[in-house]
Amino acid sequence: MDSSQASIFEQVRVWLHAARHIAMLTGAGVSAESGVPTFRDAQTGMWARFRPEDLATEEAFRRDPQRVWDWYAERRENLRDVQPNAGHSAVAEFQQRHPGRLTLITQNVDGLHQKAGSPSVLALHGTIFENQWLDRCELARRPMDACHVDQAEPGRPPRCAQCGNLARPAVVWFGEMLPTAAMAAAEQAARRCEVMLVAGTSGAVYPAAGLAHQARAAGAKVVIVNPDETELDEIADAVLTGTSARILPRLLEDW
Ligand code: OAD
Repeated sequence: MDSSQASIFEQVRVWLHAARHIAMLTGAGVSAESGVPTFRDAQTGMWARFRPEDLATEEAFRRDPQRVWDWYAERRENLRDVQPNAGHSAVAEFQQRHPGRLTLITQNVDGLHQKAGSPSVLALHGTIFENQWLDRCELARRPMDACHVDQAEPGRPPRCAQCGNLARPAVVWFGEMLPTAAMAAAEQAARRCEVMLVAGTSGAVYPAAGLAHQARAAGAKVVIVNPDETELDEIADAVLTGTSARILPRLLEDW
């Protein structure tokens, strides 16, 4: 770390120390050092190899459910043995040491913050390890609980034996609403925090990236942790250039 980065780092530590409420927004980059590919990195990102509109929209799933199901099934399989890294652990340990002080908001569906022991995680884009029904059951005029997704008939994708409804991964696709309660809690944290830490996200996807704008508008310091430039750098009070597994443990260790 050069001397200008070192002094920015110390400044951020002072802000964090003084903050009663910290909000933290994470993205795919915090899992990169666990071996999980990001979305937008030029060579290795998922969206360098696949088109989101072929795989991460409801239209894509309706057009070719098996292809989309298989893509998510492969990602689930690849994630099964993946372990959290030092960045995830640093956040989890901070939350455990300072209950209620850091609200963790993630766009990640990989469950690694939870696996690291973070006591509460607002998962804005859902979780890849769970399924939900594609359609509500209204057409079949049955209450939803007449069909249990875990009792779906095996297949790719599994389907309800009674009404044919398809199971789909419980992630948020492009064009879909974010889970209302998680988003409301995230917005509340953005409005009341004194520091908004933004780690491992390109800041390209809204409404998640909008949380950093909301925090800034409410007077918080916005701090970016990322090895590369992001779309949120221009509203940041401090940019810490480096990887999350390297920076977060030192940033969040006790003073
Ligand atoms: P992106 O792939 O857009 O951005 C990943 C960010 O992580 C980039 O800014 C990288 O520079 C940074 N990065 C890479 N390695 C890192 C490391 N070791 N430490 C810290 N940062 C690192 O991923 P997201 O911003 O998470 O949505 O993307 C947001 C959403 O777009 C995702 O949740 C997903 C995607 O399409 C849906 O699937 C709905």
